[in-house]
Amino acid sequence: MKVYLETMGCQMNRLDSELIAGRLQSAGYEMVSQQRRADVILYNTCSVRRHAEDKVFSRLGADAQRKKSRRILVGVLGCMAQRLGDELFRRFPVVDLLCGPGQLSRLPDLIADASAGRRATALDPGRGSDPDRSAQERLEAMDRSRDPRNMPHPSQAFVRVMRGCDRFCTYCIVPYVRGPEHSRPPEAIEEEVRRLLAAGRSEITLLGQTVNRYRHEAPGRTTRFSDLLARLSPLPGLRRLRFVTSHPLDFGRDLLEAIRDLPNVCPYIHAPAQSGSDAVLKRMNRGYTRAQYDELVSAAKEIVPDVVLAGDFIAGFPGERDEDHAASMDLIRRTQYKNSFLFKYSHREGTLAARRYADDVPEAMKRRRHAELLQAQNEASLTHHRSYVGRTMEVLVAGPSRKAQAPLSESTVQLQGRTRGDHIVVFDGPGSLLGAYVNVRIRDADALTLFADPPTRAIAPT
Ligand code: 5AD
Ligand code: SF4
Repeated sequence: MKVYLETMGCQMNRLDSELIAGRLQSAGYEMVSQQRRADVILYNTCSVRRHAEDKVFSRLGADAQRKKSRRILVGVLGCMAQRLGDELFRRFPVVDLLCGPGQLSRLPDLIADASAGRRATALDPGRGSDPDRSAQERLEAMDRSRDPRNMPHPSQAFVRVMRGCDRFCTYCIVPYVRGPEHSRPPEAIEEEVRRLLAAGRSEITLLGQTVNRYRHEAPGRTTRFSDLLARLSPLPGLRRLRFVTSHPLDFGRDLLEAIRDLPNVCPYIHAPAQSGSDAVLKRMNRGYTRAQYDELVSAAKEIVPDVVLAGDFIAGFPGERDEDHAASMDLIRRTQYKNSFLFKYSHREGTLAARRYADDVPEAMKRRRHAELLQAQNEASLTHHRSYVGRTMEVLVAGPSRKAQAPLSESTVQLQGRTRGDHIVVFDGPGSLLGAYVNVRIRDADALTLFADPPTRAIAPT
C-alpha cells in the first residue's frame, strides 16, 4: 500500500512525521509524494490556530470527492485528532482513522483495522487520568528506532527532549492536545544523538514545547537543560547544537552561561514574549512581567556574545487595548529580534481564554495590529541583518536557494544555508557544497536574508 503523508504545524509535527514514515516503511508501506497515487492519505495536523484546522477541513472535503471514484483510506493524526475525536467522524464521514500525538506508534495497526472496514481510533488518555506508561514507552521506542535514511536533510536532525506542556498559557491548546510535560531520560537522548552523528548528521536541534524547562530526575541526580547541553556538547562530530522553543521564565544564568561556554551550542534564542504589556501577559498566564522579559534580553545580550534573538507575538488577545499593542510594538523595536513569528489571536475552544474572556478585539483591528507588528519587525530585522554586512560567517549549506530555478552555470548554483545564529544566507557556489560548512563574506542584506560572496574554500565537517 502507498501512503501519502502531509504535515501541518510545528517542528514537533515534522519530527513526528519523519518517525511515522519510518514506522510505516518498516511495516512494508511505501511513502509517496503525490496524493493521487496513494491508497492511504494521512494528515499530521495542528490545532494551535483555526486557520490550520480549516486547511485540513478543506482537504477532507476534497478527499470525500476523491473517495467516490476510488478506494482510499483517510486518516487524521496529531493534535486535531486529539482535540476533536469522534466529532471528526461525525462531521467528515470520509475519515477512516484517528490517531492522537501520543499514539503514533500504533498507526500500522490502525491502518490495518481501517482497511478491514473498521473505523479505527487511538487517542491519548485525558489529562486527569493516570499517565499511560505503555504509550510513553512506545513513543520512547519510536524515537529510539528512527532510521537516519528517512531523514530529509543530510546534515541536520531534530531530537525530541520533552513532550507536552504544563504551562497552560490561556490562549493555547497545546497542553490539552499534547498532554502533560515529560522529559526524556538523558541517556536515551544521548544515545539518539550519537546514532545520528554516526550517520553523518552534524547539526542537532533539540525540540520541546518549552525545551529549556527540560528537567530529568533520577535517584541521586537531576539533569537540568544546561546539564543536558553540557552532556551532549562534547560528542564527537557534533558541530552545532540548537534548541527550540524556549520559555522566557526558564532562562537561568546556568543556561545562558552554557550557551556562552559550550563552543558548539548555537547562540540563537527563540524566546516568545507573546505581548509587551503586563496586563495582557497576566491574562495570558505567561508567568512573567515585561520587566522580567526585558531583564532576560539584557542578560542574554550581556552574557552571550553575538546572541541572536527571535520572538513570537499575538495580536488582538482578548481585552488588548491600544496601549497594550503599543507596548508590544515597543518591545519589538527595543529587543531587535532577528525575526518574530506574528499571529492574530485565534479563539480556541477548550482553552482557558475561551472560557474566561470574550474574543472582543474586532477582526479588522487584529489585522491592523498584526500588520503594524509586522512592519516594526521588518524594520528591526533589516537593521539586524545589515549589521552583518562585511563580516565573514560560517554557513551550513542546506541546498539550492528557493529562487534558484536553474544552475547558473555547469558547476555553479545559487545556494542557501544557515549561520550559527540561524540567519538565512544565499550565495553562488558549486552544488557539491550541499551539507558542507563554508565561510562566506556577507556583502548585502535585506530583512530576511544575508547575501554573500562565493566561498573561497569549504571546511569539511568535523
Ligand atoms: N492564537 C494565536 N496564536 C497562538 N499561538 C498559540 N496559540 C495561539 C492562539 N490561540 C502562537 C504563540 C505560540 C506559537 C506557537 O503560536 O505565539 O508561541
Ligand atoms: Fe502553549 Fe504556553 Fe505551553 Fe507554549 S508554553 S506550548 S504557548 S501553553
